[in-house]
Amino acid sequence: MNLKLSHIALACPELTAALDRLKNLGLAEDARHEVPTEKVRVSMVPCEVSDQFRIELLEPTDPQSPIAGFLAKKASGGIHHLSFEVDQIEHWEARLKAAGLEILPPGIRKAARGKALFLHPKSMGGVLVELEEIS
Ligand code: CO
Repeated sequence: MNLKLSHIALACPELTAALDRLKNLGLAEDARHEVPTEKVRVSMVPCEVSDQFRIELLEPTDPQSPIAGFLAKKASGGIHHLSFEVDQIEHWEARLKAAGLEILPPGIRKAARGKALFLHPKSMGGVLVELEEIS
């Protein structure tokens, strides 16, 4: 009885702008569906899954933690960010900056499994996006 992560669903006001944002990450739609019973239009965007894929649970260790800030707004917790594994994170930083996306300071930082950078949710349709280089 194996559970396999099947997809991540992002609500967006319209698909075109959302697909343009994902293009910055090298991602593109491969199928589109209308689901009249749910009153939605669905764009499916394939994405490789890292063999290092994990569900990451985050508990704040200090009131100044960004996770404490998140929980102050959403006490029950919830999805905090999407993370994509990359190599050559410095190249990604340059590429995303050149595309006009906002990278949260201090840019590339130490992360649980290596190095990471975070794209501001306003650059990614309301979703905090992490790029992670696992070492
Ligand atoms: Co993360």
